[in-house]
Amino acid sequence: MLHDAMWDDEFPHDPTICYLNHAAVAPWPKRAADAVSSFARENIHQGARDYPRWIQLEHRLRGQLQSLLNAPGKGDIALVKNTSEALSLVAMGLDWTEGDEVLISDQEFPSNRIPWQALEGRGVTVRQVNLDASDPEAALIAAMGPATRLLSISSVQYASGLRMDLERLGRACRERNILFCVDAIQSLGALPFDVQAIDCDFAMADGHKWLLGPEGLGVFYCRREARDRLKLTQFGWHMVEAMGDYDREDWTPASTARRFEPGSPNTLAQHALSASLELLLEVGIQRIQEALQQRTAYLLQSISSIPGARILSPSAPERRAGIVTFTISGCPNAWLFQQLKDGGIVCAERGGGIRWSPHFYTSQQVLDNALAILRNALQHYNRSR
Ligand SMILES: Cc1ncc(COP(=O)(O)O)c(C=O)c1O
Repeated sequence: MLHDAMWDDEFPHDPTICYLNHAAVAPWPKRAADAVSSFARENIHQGARDYPRWIQLEHRLRGQLQSLLNAPGKGDIALVKNTSEALSLVAMGLDWTEGDEVLISDQEFPSNRIPWQALEGRGVTVRQVNLDASDPEAALIAAMGPATRLLSISSVQYASGLRMDLERLGRACRERNILFCVDAIQSLGALPFDVQAIDCDFAMADGHKWLLGPEGLGVFYCRREARDRLKLTQFGWHMVEAMGDYDREDWTPASTARRFEPGSPNTLAQHALSASLELLLEVGIQRIQEALQQRTAYLLQSISSIPGARILSPSAPERRAGIVTFTISGCPNAWLFQQLKDGGIVCAERGGGIRWSPHFYTSQQVLDNALAILRNALQHYNRSR
């Protein structure tokens, strides 16, 4: 029912494993591994002789990311090490005044909290807004005041899987002249994402979750008009306008987002990520979203029918993405997590529960196996009490 055999060749997984951890670190598709192998072979035999081809691949990758984010141009895309780096570029780059306020939520991953808290020594206040209300956007909007300079929010919360209405938040920020920053790591590659529709100033994500790429290569979108507002904090040969003119003494930062890329790029990861994105774009983000909705709906329904199960993730389709987090009353999460792990389920213990995160290609068989392992573990627990 939930199986699209079309992508099986790309994910030749060990059949003893149920991989439900795309919200943490995802497996690579076969074509990403192939791209890395052939890049390694090229390096052994020819070194960087064909560097111009590598540069072409980098352009291609920027184009793929532009398309995933619907950024106006390739020049709006910077390639960074990770989400945390991009968030730090924004936090350390803006010109803060004592008394300024940054709004975040109380569910953020530390990457979207620590860079803002690092500004507290400069007199900036960080307010963590509680998202438990039935209308979390209204809570964030109500918290916006005259001192609020920036709202930084995850598009999908990493533990609960709560998906935010980014268009509504973007509108509220624009009306109040508040900068809008979106940590998109839990939705890019899982859901459509459109920086123009949500009207954000900054968006960032790493490649190793829903984008199915390796760790250590991420994307940073910076709205053109916001680019000059970020004081640069990293410098090198690669971020200047006249890149490659090594004899030139005078320099200016690149007019494009390349100004955020100080030195040599991560060409190895670029090969892998570009191959992974090729697959995602081939499948189509709309189709990926639909496949994920089906899989999360199936898990929500099946887990809810287990006695004692409590779902910690939202159930409304517009409120969820690829994350289903749950607990079983009376059964300690740490014990259950260990049992699931021993049974072959790769998942995570997050937000006071067990977090399962399939992707578009996850088969019905994998979901059913995982559910059977969960039921067995609970039977074992109930018998032993
Ligand atoms: C919402 C969110 N932001 C950021 C990160 C980590 O980002 P990075 O390692 O790319 O800095 C995670 C990882 O779990 C996350 O869930």
